Amino acid sequence: MIAYLNGEFVDRSHATVSVDDRGFLFGDGVYEVTRAHDGRLFEPEPHLRRLRRGLDALAIGTPTDLDDARLLEISDRLLQENGLHAGDATVYVQITRGAAARTHHFPPAGTRPTVYASASRLPAPDDARTRGVSVLLVPDQRWARCDLKTINLLPNVLAKQDAVVAGAYEAVMVRGGVITEGASTNVFVVLDGVLRTHPATPRILPGITRDVVLELARDLGVSLAEDAAAVADLAHASEMFLTSTTNDVMPVVRVDATPIGNGAPGPVARRLYDAMRKRMLAPVPAGA
Ligand code: PDD
Repeated sequence: MIAYLNGEFVDRSHATVSVDDRGFLFGDGVYEVTRAHDGRLFEPEPHLRRLRRGLDALAIGTPTDLDDARLLEISDRLLQENGLHAGDATVYVQITRGAAARTHHFPPAGTRPTVYASASRLPAPDDARTRGVSVLLVPDQRWARCDLKTINLLPNVLAKQDAVVAGAYEAVMVRGGVITEGASTNVFVVLDGVLRTHPATPRILPGITRDVVLELARDLGVSLAEDAAAVADLAHASEMFLTSTTNDVMPVVRVDATPIGNGAPGPVARRLYDAMRKRMLAPVPAGA
């Protein structure tokens, strides 16, 4: 596989970064995962906007020679050269504050950010989608800027590991009795006929798939509220599902040991998944 590292396309197995890299030492960086289908990126602009927003918030800024057009060109080349022009794939981009002598404060001005990108095949979780998945509730132990997609993912890693050990597909995080989001997904719940999800505050990552689903739900006339569900609500929820770049819309049929609704994937998740897939597979408009 070919990867991109600091201006060059290199054999991925030989791509190396410095042990002084602040990503390695401090988790000082941001990342993006963008979906591609048949070699075409899905919703690239919002992913680019979120990446820029993170770089600005962390005062890393936009590395020179890495404007949006260049990032799209790098992504395209990674998809093409790695044989990912057909089927489902993801493009991963990570930018750290670069390599410098270890100080907690920022390194000297002029330190070059480290830019890494790769592309991978995305295995379709179709079986899981047909059956629905179970999730494990865990305490949300994260910081107050979960809206930034930083590579500091330790609470998410520990939460997901707890889920895997418990035989669950995803960990769903709870803060003050309220469902925030999954370890790497956003969470939706259907309560009294209303589709509910946590509002886009700094307590969650504003998922690109979450936004697409909200837009599709509006188009389909599903009544919705950006109002988080509480754990106590789950007992009378008719449906629950997860959204993310790697899951699209994934029905949840069990939380811990408790079934959701009738214990089978529900119609709202199905309609939204179908609408999303249609959008992903839509032909490119002429002139685009
Ligand atoms: N995770 N919430 C968290 C904490 C996430 O890490 C992600 C994405 C999402 C969903 O966001 P989006 O719809 O933009 O993918 C929500 C990616 C896929 C990952 O870390 O691999």
